Amino acid sequence: MQSSADVNQRIARISAHIRSSNLQMEESSILRRANCRAKGGAPGFKVAILGAAGGIGQPLAMLMKMNPLVSVLHLYDVVNSPGVTADVSHMDTGAVVRGFLGQQQLESALTGMDLVVIPAGVPRKPGMTRDDLFKINAGIVKTLCEGIAKCCPHAIINLISNPVNSTVPIAAEVFKKAGTFDPKRLLGVTMLDVVRANTFVVCSANLVLLFLFSILAVGKF
Ligand SMILES: NC(=O)c1ccc[n+]([C@@H]2O[C@H](COP(=O)([O-])OP(=O)(O)OC[C@H]3O[C@@H](n4cnc5c(N)ncnc54)[C@H](O)[C@@H]3O)[C@@H](O)[C@H]2O)c1
Repeated sequence: MQSSADVNQRIARISAHIRSSNLQMEESSILRRANCRAKGGAPGFKVAILGAAGGIGQPLAMLMKMNPLVSVLHLYDVVNSPGVTADVSHMDTGAVVRGFLGQQQLESALTGMDLVVIPAGVPRKPGMTRDDLFKINAGIVKTLCEGIAKCCPHAIINLISNPVNSTVPIAAEVFKKAGTFDPKRLLGVTMLDVVRANTFVVCSANLVLLFLFSILAVGKF
């Protein structure tokens, strides 16, 4: 059975969620830092996902909502963020979820954030070179980082948008220009490459083993 402290905390979280000023899709909401805190909610990190309605953004939003260290989750995209926000906000975990749609709400989405994760942009499609990808995503990352430099200059930035080895230097230049660059706070996400490399190595090692076992087996008969 839950203790009364737990129950009170849960009630506070739910009421904060219901009563939180619903700035989600307002045309010109300007959030102040204080408004970004989860009133009555568990203390924790305030996280923004930019590109939250995409293939990476949506499962990432779900994982962030499940993370007990996150108290406020801002979901920003140029399309479809209202629907994703509604779905994610229905999960019965502590973080308060707010959605932001379009460039005019970027500053509201970023104000007061501790961590900004950026999967915004386009993935590489058949026929596209990495240069094509760069041309599109470079501009997107630049604009988003200008917003970060202005609204949450001390946030940690996780860049997922590809090509990561080019988008990270672009972000660094934006922050240097704004005087907010901190190399310890700007990170490119390369986990996918590590996981893929592990899988490919194991697959080829297994193939070699299979080949050797086949030779041994054939040699026995
Ligand atoms: N670093 C990695 O390990 C890794 C892994 C997978 C994907 N990626 C990269 O992540 C990016 C996203 O991949 P995806 O599969 O989610 O693509 P997606 O097309 O499904 O989603 C991208 C989202 O970004 C949004 N977006 C576009 N322009 C925007 C802007 N100016 N501001 C905010 N949002 C914007 C789109 O509306 C869309 O919802 C791609 O560049 C992809 O190559 C990186």
